[in-house]
Amino acid sequence: FQMIIHLIILILPYLVCSAPIRSTQQPNRERKLPEAIIIGVKKAGTRALLEFLRLNPHIKAPGPEVHFFDRNFEKGLEWYRSQMPESEEGDLTIEKSPAYFISKTAPSRIKDINPKMKLIVVLRDPVTRAISDYTQASSKRRRLGQMPSFERMAVGNCAPWSKANCSVKTQGVNSHWGAVRIGVYHKYLQRWLKEFPLAQFHFVDGQKLIDDPAEEVKKVEEFLGLKSVVTPSDFEVDSVKKFPCIKNPDGTHHCLGKTKGRPHPKVDEPVLKRLKRFYEPENDRLFSLIRQHFQWE
Ligand code: A3P
Repeated sequence: FQMIIHLIILILPYLVCSAPIRSTQQPNRERKLPEAIIIGVKKAGTRALLEFLRLNPHIKAPGPEVHFFDRNFEKGLEWYRSQMPESEEGDLTIEKSPAYFISKTAPSRIKDINPKMKLIVVLRDPVTRAISDYTQASSKRRRLGQMPSFERMAVGNCAPWSKANCSVKTQGVNSHWGAVRIGVYHKYLQRWLKEFPLAQFHFVDGQKLIDDPAEEVKKVEEFLGLKSVVTPSDFEVDSVKKFPCIKNPDGTHHCLGKTKGRPHPKVDEPVLKRLKRFYEPENDRLFSLIRQHFQWE
């Protein structure tokens, strides 16, 4: 025990002094607050977008989701800054926390901190997004017992333990079930548009991010005011996953983790049709709100 105390006394001055020394040795490196945030939408391809953007050496982003404006706000701005990686002049710091999109507090909190914040939203066909959401939820729930089928959750009686009120249906669809509700994008977006002008948003087509990742990433680099450096040669479609992965200089490639690009259950055609019909007017409202159209059929 005495030896341990001795050791601590010996190394303590070094630990205390090393921090300022390191920062004076590298005066150009600092942790900056983000200038742009990927605010959503969950299961639309937000992780893929962030990983692909990081191919640009001027984009600095933390790996994990920070959840500052929804869950960790009381930790304060300096905590938020401490979550960011170090950056140099000319770099741009971004973070992604897709739960911000549906958060009631995030829009005004972000505006209070930076009214010029650039906001990136990945949007995907809400039917596919709902199936992806369901796939994730049922894989997490597996420990607790099998989840009812997607069909039952989307148009039937949900599950006894489900928080969703499935006695209220809209056009035969459980519009209160989270997986369906989040896909009514325009409702959440209205909240954001009360705080920020449309020009501060960039909308990424989640389907195009799969079909032509370089093109979608290029548009984001431009929106961020950066020189575009990401090209089609940075990607390769994995023969097993069937999703684009990042090509390394040594010829190998790096795919997203096993929770991204999971196989989806096959959903009955009539249920798919009912969901499509349900979303049609909602998508139209979205497209006129953002003055942009996505071909999701
Ligand atoms: P699935 O796993 O259900 O297919 P998010 O990162 O926002 O949670 O989105 C996850 C979804 O991103 C995945 O859902 C997948 O469809 C999509 N995706 C887009 N590009 C991808 C890529 N290159 N690799 C893996 N998944 C990708």
